[in-house]
Amino acid sequence: MKIFKDRQALQKEILKSKGISFVPTMGGLHEGHISLVKRSKKSRLKTLVTIFINPKQFNKKSDFNSYPRNIKNDIKVLKKLKVNYLYIPSIKDIYGFKPKNKVFIDKVSKKLCGKFRPGHFKGVLNVVNRFLEIIKPKYIYLGKKDYQQLYLIKKHIQKRKIRSKIIECKTIRKKNGIACSTRNSRLNQHQMKIASSIFHYLFKLKKKLKVNFSLFKLNKVKIDLINLGASKIDYIENYNTKNFEKIRKTNKKFNLFIAYYIQNTRLIDNI
Ligand code: PAF
Repeated sequence: MKIFKDRQALQKEILKSKGISFVPTMGGLHEGHISLVKRSKKSRLKTLVTIFINPKQFNKKSDFNSYPRNIKNDIKVLKKLKVNYLYIPSIKDIYGFKPKNKVFIDKVSKKLCGKFRPGHFKGVLNVVNRFLEIIKPKYIYLGKKDYQQLYLIKKHIQKRKIRSKIIECKTIRKKNGIACSTRNSRLNQHQMKIASSIFHYLFKLKKKLKVNFSLFKLNKVKIDLINLGASKIDYIENYNTKNFEKIRKTNKKFNLFIAYYIQNTRLIDNI
């Protein structure tokens, strides 16, 4: 695995390849990332992983500072997976140039996490736009766990006519149902149990709503979640996954989107 810290050196190297399969990450690698890399390797193109904790997508400095970091282990994991290239840029390497494409921010960015983390999606799209310009990947692998992010990146790529194809990858869950996330490393065993019971509660709720959507009673669901151990709920809403329209009546094609806290740890999921 070749490691790059400088975009020009990286570009010189990847110019020689027939195309790149790209897996963007902020490190703190877990099974979700591993499955993205495995999927990318199936493309038979060279796989390039980036590790960059993008300060612009954190709306609180304290969240950026405390974001889990484990670069030594990340490198070990990626070497074992026989990743071809790892790019670990500095802030200057990423933000020290003017990209050709302007970021396109679809109105869906105002919903869900966009409401509770002002500037977050603008920061995500800014960095992804820069990566796409530096790497020009044929494929970019994104997990459905961050479904709103995936949707907004897709809209940006379409609008700016960027020739990279998004490969949507399913959410990887632990046996107890919890969606893999770097932030899970902050949970103790008791908190893991809470997250697991919240997943099972939402899973059952979704099943019921598919049959009869009028069973969705927001206040009752919030009280149930607090009783299960959630400390605070940012949102719990149902959206059509194709167009992000709100679900009002029985309709099979929707997901239940949630963001909630267990003490200081904010978790998101969509089921
Ligand atoms: O999902 C993430 O880890 C990040 O938002 C991404 C796509 C790597 C951009 O910083």
